[in-house]
Amino acid sequence: MRIVIVKNAEELAAKAAEEALEVIRAKKDAVLGLATGSTPVGMYRKLIEDHKKNGTSYRLVKAVNLDEYIGLSPENDQSYRYFMRKNLFDEIDIDLDNTYIENGLAADEKAECARYDALLRSLPRDLQVLGIGANGHIAFNEPGTPFSEKTHAVSLTENTIEMNSRFFKSKDEVPRRAFTMGPKSIMEAKKILILASGASKADAVFKTVRGEVTEEVPASILQNHPNCVLIADEEAASLL
Ligand code: PGA
Repeated sequence: MRIVIVKNAEELAAKAAEEALEVIRAKKDAVLGLATGSTPVGMYRKLIEDHKKNGTSYRLVKAVNLDEYIGLSPENDQSYRYFMRKNLFDEIDIDLDNTYIENGLAADEKAECARYDALLRSLPRDLQVLGIGANGHIAFNEPGTPFSEKTHAVSLTENTIEMNSRFFKSKDEVPRRAFTMGPKSIMEAKKILILASGASKADAVFKTVRGEVTEEVPASILQNHPNCVLIADEEAASLL
């Protein structure tokens, strides 16, 4: 794993955008695996700035997202589909038909996971962007998730519900289940960019980089990836 330590969240955004742009500029029809959460938002802002200033085009780019809440429609302003439009897609020239995410309203969870796995097979990712949870989770893969899991439906842990409630009016509104790419799906990307910002991530970053590779720390699987870059700000990297 290549480790890049930057000063703060602003530098993290710039460095992450630089890594992503390297992939996008090298391949006009790159397939990007994208993530929601607060950490990648700064990087998306930089990509938008670059698109408007330098004209980098996403016309042929395809985007596949990690996860989606079960029970929310794509129009719901708490859905991850909506998040991606608001924070990136509506500000660049990507074709929305080339953007993919699990269907939170799918009636048959198993069938939806199989559909998404088939989609992922047909769209090998050039880059996968990840955040990391304070407990080392990646996407909605919580500690204990088998590394062999592909797309699956999960019940959110109490801790994740609590963390994510900051985006909702109340904790009661946070959906209890979600679809998520599994560790195995994530590892299939050619390159992985994992971003960590703030002191609350320091322990998870330490375990991810220096700890043993264990299902108890989902992000530790990234030690086995041949092309993974971790970008952490000084607070997130403070224990390294
Ligand atoms: P955050 O979430 O970027 O909002 O901190 C990361 C995660 O929990 O995966």
